[in-house]
Amino acid sequence: MEIFVDSADLEEIKKAEEYGVCSGVTTNPSLIKKAVDKLKGKGEKVNIESYINTICKTIGRNGSVSLEVVSLDATGMVKEAEHLYRKFNSVAENVAIKIPISTSTKDDEEHYEGLKAISMLSKKGIPVNATLVMTPEQALLAAKSGAKYVSPFAGRIDDWIRKNLGMKFEKGDYFPAEGIRKKGKLMDDNGVVSGVDLVRKILEVFRKYDIQAKVIAASLRNYRQVREVAELGVHIATIPFNVIEEMIKHPKTFEGVVKFSEDVVPEYRGLFG
Ligand code: E4P
Repeated sequence: MEIFVDSADLEEIKKAEEYGVCSGVTTNPSLIKKAVDKLKGKGEKVNIESYINTICKTIGRNGSVSLEVVSLDATGMVKEAEHLYRKFNSVAENVAIKIPISTSTKDDEEHYEGLKAISMLSKKGIPVNATLVMTPEQALLAAKSGAKYVSPFAGRIDDWIRKNLGMKFEKGDYFPAEGIRKKGKLMDDNGVVSGVDLVRKILEVFRKYDIQAKVIAASLRNYRQVREVAELGVHIATIPFNVIEEMIKHPKTFEGVVKFSEDVVPEYRGLFG
């Protein structure tokens, strides 16, 4: 499983790169806003173009950097995607363009602009990361229309199920992969019982038909969810930096370090000069 950093924060991206665990980055307009606000907060001038340039350079040729469009119609998205691709793919040939699977904001609107854009861009050879995927059906459509990556939003499905149950929760709270029951009934979103279950179902469909699109488990909120999507054999997990840092910690590891340090005899320390 590849690990991408789900962040537009260059400091975080550089650290993850230093840890040697990260082969890509996924951004979205909210993550870019967070990074820009942080820079402004520090009184720094923001040059978003050179900032993204540095992200692409940091990740390098063997990685992947997802950049998202902002228009809601296919023509606009394709234009923006071509612009982003022209501008940033030349840096390290690692750019993928994030296109929402659908850009409609309610039920009675046009739903296919995202798919049209994915299809047009894929035919032009521009790699697409289909984003905001909330169902296996959307994932199938994204892959069929040519997306290179398909990003199911695991955490947001957990949020949705919890919200419908009227549950209070914090963003990082664990939600059981096997779902939760209310009055004995397993709660679901049209048959999907958790974000991890969404990823599982997409992988099952893709494997059944040997679909080549790579699944990026996205909207991950805690390390246990990362473990669960890893157990499913997902291709990529895009992980917020704070969760990458959580993944390393265990009290018995801390304790072990203390004990080993206490037990170093002078003869052994002498080896190191
Ligand atoms: C990544 O591609 C997504 O944009 C991101 O994982 C969304 O995460 P969130 O649901 O925590 O905002």
